[in-house]
Amino acid sequence: MFNPRLTKTLSDYPFSRLNALIADLAPPAHLSLINMSVGEPQGALPEFARKILANETAGWSKYPPNQGVPELNAAIVEWLNRRYRLPPGLLDPACHVIPTAGSKEGVYVISTIATPQEKGGGKPVTMLPNPFYQAYLGAVVLSGAEPVFVNADATNGFLPDFDKIEEAIWKRTAIVYLCSPANPQGAMADMGYLQRLIALCRKHDAVAALDECYAEIYTGTPPIGGLEAALAMDETDGRDPFRNVVVFHSLSKRSDAAGIRSGFMAGDPRLVALMLRWKTYGGTQIPFAVQKASAALWSEETHPVATRSRYRANFKVAEQILHNRFGYFTPGGGFFLWLDVGDGEAATRKLWGEAHVKVLPGAYLARDTGRANPAQRYIRVALVQDEKTTREALGRLASVL
Ligand SMILES: Cc1ncc(COP(=O)(O)O)c(C=O)c1O
Repeated sequence: MFNPRLTKTLSDYPFSRLNALIADLAPPAHLSLINMSVGEPQGALPEFARKILANETAGWSKYPPNQGVPELNAAIVEWLNRRYRLPPGLLDPACHVIPTAGSKEGVYVISTIATPQEKGGGKPVTMLPNPFYQAYLGAVVLSGAEPVFVNADATNGFLPDFDKIEEAIWKRTAIVYLCSPANPQGAMADMGYLQRLIALCRKHDAVAALDECYAEIYTGTPPIGGLEAALAMDETDGRDPFRNVVVFHSLSKRSDAAGIRSGFMAGDPRLVALMLRWKTYGGTQIPFAVQKASAALWSEETHPVATRSRYRANFKVAEQILHNRFGYFTPGGGFFLWLDVGDGEAATRKLWGEAHVKVLPGAYLARDTGRANPAQRYIRVALVQDEKTTREALGRLASVL
């Protein structure tokens, strides 16, 4: 009676599996609970944005525009131009960008708007990195496409080898998801990698759906973005330089603003127009006050510097405590540790049962390909707590594992 894609195919969200995995254990009561399983930033929304949210009351009784208020779209374009050194005037706020409710709405809805009934004579395929952010799979399954999981493991620097996928699959491919910096491993695609992926997508008339929601959280050099990679390909011959490419961004990580649900999609104007059409039929507009606060946040460049130094301090602590264990590496971006503990589920149980620390088994973020789950040996540890709590948690981890 109900939709089996939801009741059967999408029945095992990682956090429900995690709760079931540790349900029979009693964690040590003398130790405080430290939750490192969820990637939820713990910093405070900057004061200037809180003021705007509190003061912008005039819009509460009006419907906000689906396409974003001009002030927000302009601020987004200016930020993209600054961040990715794009020539001013190239991105048009009216047709290259559209605000979304966090990046989650964007990465989900791209599948609805870009999956045809049929592609290359068969069922459309969407490729996704394995492991992956779970909204991608929800989007693929509910839009009726066939997911093809492409492993991102230590052998390929945690970036999927899309160019090794056979032609017959590529012919049916409608969308390719990539997350850079990647959740969970923090790997960052370089210019060559992004350009190869974009070229493959263009060749097969597929969409490169590039999740860049961790673009502002990096430990060294800022990660390259899909828009600058597309532009540098210099093969536009009059067509839109961003064709077949969309990027997704968010204030959740950049501005410790997960609660205001504010992000955007930018790129191929045909897809921006379809996103707008989807919004007019079924999407939710972003409240005026959130749009105004978002415009101010995208325009302000000092608070992300402070955010980055918080995460860098946590990675320093991790390096000190874990440097020669669990295949430790400091990732290029994002705020997760991806630790090779041999058996991710067993380690998660041990950490909960003996140290009152909650982490996520890597396997829950991936699907079996062939006979194996590429993330089975790993745990994901979100370094989102303050430095003292991080030190305490990793100290406990190092002593029980
Ligand atoms: C890889 C990835 N993409 C997208 C999101 C969605 O975040 P938001 O909608 O808050 O931007 C998350 C959230 O953690 C994520 O890890």
